[in-house]
Amino acid sequence: KSCLILGAPIETGASQRGCIMGPASLRTAGLSDTLASLGWQVEDRGDVQIDAQTPVNDANAAVHNLAETIAWINALEPAAYEATRNSDLPIFMGGDHSMSAGTVPGVARVAAEEGRPLFVLWLDAHPDLHTLDTTESGNLHGTPVAYFTGQAGCEAYPDLAHKVAPENMCFIGIRSVDPAEEARIKQLGMDVQDMRAIDETGVLVPLRAFLDRVRAANGRLHVSFDVDFLDPAIAPAVGTTVPGGATFREAHLIMETLCDSGLVGSLDLVELNPFLDERGRTAKLLCDLTASLFGRRVLDRMTRSFG
Ligand code: ARG
Ligand code: MN
Ligand code: MN
Ligand code: MN
Repeated sequence: KSCLILGAPIETGASQRGCIMGPASLRTAGLSDTLASLGWQVEDRGDVQIDAQTPVNDANAAVHNLAETIAWINALEPAAYEATRNSDLPIFMGGDHSMSAGTVPGVARVAAEEGRPLFVLWLDAHPDLHTLDTTESGNLHGTPVAYFTGQAGCEAYPDLAHKVAPENMCFIGIRSVDPAEEARIKQLGMDVQDMRAIDETGVLVPLRAFLDRVRAANGRLHVSFDVDFLDPAIAPAVGTTVPGGATFREAHLIMETLCDSGLVGSLDLVELNPFLDERGRTAKLLCDLTASLFGRRVLDRMTRSFG
């Protein structure tokens, strides 16, 4: 099994600087070697880059760094497409979450060529469902899902060749939603599992239901993992911490279950801000969680209660 690794050192979509160091921190934590030790053929293709940009203004004056985000989308869509075509489970290391406005459409192009629907699992405290019209912070990491599901209000972004159907998304860990995002969730009828739902059922009930849907549709699955999905007590290295996040055990269980499913075809690791980390602990945790997705397990179980 092969894994291409790409860095996307983008930080212009976030509220504070530092995500530019995310890929370097994950490399320092030993991501490549960790996956190689699990039997994967790993190749780190380095970082995608963009040229310096001339500012462009948007009708929404709060929007900032739009030119950079557009350039990153244009650079990452083909990079993600190539990496997904050429390896079993590429990893896109962020970089703030606006990078998914490039990686997801690139993966969607592969799915379209395969004639399969693309499903996206969004592990995040936030749904990132703002359009360029509705964002109040103007931080474009709050907009990728609205863009790649084709919502009106994102016209300043590059034209989308392949959209993700809103009903093919699942959000887990949600606990910070702005009013415009909540209205869109209701309008689109999206599968959003907030922390109350997790507390009521545990993570496996909604996750297995979603994986069943992916399998039944012969879908391709992309996982987008925002560091703020995790509880800030175990993952401090993110600029948008929200209390009450996923625990160490919930997060590993999700990654192990995703591994068992065999359905995951690509992964974003986003919003890691090493400037806010404590002795690399968040980067190391992300490496360990990725290892769980790539097959690391405590015991080699002969039988499993699910699969
Ligand atoms: N909804 C808030 C905003 O638009 C927070 C977005 C946080 N997004 C993220 N990828 N961390 O500013
Ligand atoms: Mn502006
Ligand atoms: Mn996010
Ligand atoms: Mn978030």
